[in-house]
Amino acid sequence: MMATEEQKALLNEKIHIPGRKTYEEVFDKRTLKELYDLMKDGMIDSLEHPISTGKEAKVFKGKQKDGTFVAVKIMRINTAVFRKYKKYIEGDRRFEDLPGGTKMIYAWTKKEFSNLKRMHNGDIRVPEPFAYAKNILIMEYLHNDDHPAPMLKDVDLDKKYMRYISEEVLDYFNVLYNELEMVHGDLSEFNILIAEGYPYLIDVSQSLLLDHPKSEELLERDINNLVRYFGDNGVDITVEEVKKRIGIEEV
Ligand SMILES: Nc1ncnc2c1ncn2[C@@H]1O[C@H](COP(=O)(O)OP(=O)(O)OP(=O)(O)O)[C@@H](O)[C@H]1O
Ligand SMILES: [Mg+2]
Repeated sequence: MMATEEQKALLNEKIHIPGRKTYEEVFDKRTLKELYDLMKDGMIDSLEHPISTGKEAKVFKGKQKDGTFVAVKIMRINTAVFRKYKKYIEGDRRFEDLPGGTKMIYAWTKKEFSNLKRMHNGDIRVPEPFAYAKNILIMEYLHNDDHPAPMLKDVDLDKKYMRYISEEVLDYFNVLYNELEMVHGDLSEFNILIAEGYPYLIDVSQSLLLDHPKSEELLERDINNLVRYFGDNGVDITVEEVKKRIGIEEV
C-alpha cells in the first residue's frame, strides 16, 4: 500500500510507540493498512503502548472511542511462523482447503477468535473476543487497576491461593474437555494471566477440537505442564488425578 498523507497523519497520531521508533519500523505495510481500516471503522481508536512483543505476536493496549481499553494482538507475518502453524491447521476440519502464505496467518487469527468465542460462551475465563481482521485480533484487556494482568509465572501466591488457582484451572480444563470438546494445546504458566484474582486462559490460536489427530498428544502435554507447575509451587497433584477428574480412563 502507498499510504496517503491522510493515512499517515492518522497513524502518526493514533499509534503511540515508546522510544524513538516510528510506527513504520514496528509494523509491516499490510498491518498498517489494516490498523488504519480498523480505526476508520471505529473498532479501535488508538494503540496506547505495547504490552508484549514476542516472536509470534505483538500485543498492544488499545483504546476505543468511548475510552474502553482493549488488547490488540497483532500476529507477525513471516515465513518462519507459517511453518509452525501449518501442522496445527492441517487436519482441523474447520480449516480445510487452506491456501498457503499470508492467508495462513489470517486463518490462524480467525482460529484464535473463534476458539476464544467458544470458550467464552462456555463460561471459561478468557478475554472476551470483540473482533478480528486479517492478522489482528481485538479482545478484552485483562488488567489489575492500571497494570496489564501478569502471567501466572510472575505472581507470588501463597499456597492456599495457588491451590485455589489450580482448582479453577482444573475446572476450566474439565469444561474444555467434556463440554466444549477442546484441548488448549499450549497451556502453561505463560498462558494463564491473573486478573482481579482469577486465572484467565489466553493464547488459544492452537487450541483444537478433540477430533484433531494431535489432540491427545497436546492434552498430555497440557496436563503435564500443569502438574509440573503446580507441583513446583506447593500444590501436589498427579497426572492420574487430573485424568480422573476429567474422566479419562487410564489404559
Ligand atoms: N487480553 C489480554 N489482556 C492483557 N494482556 C494480554 C492479553 N492477551 C495477551 N496479553 C499479554 O501479551 C502476552 C502475549 O500474548 P499471547 O500469549 O497471546 O501471545 P503469543 O502467541 O504467546 O506471542 P509470542 O509467542 O510472540 O509471545 C501475554 O503473555 C500477556 O502478557
Ligand atoms: Mg503466549
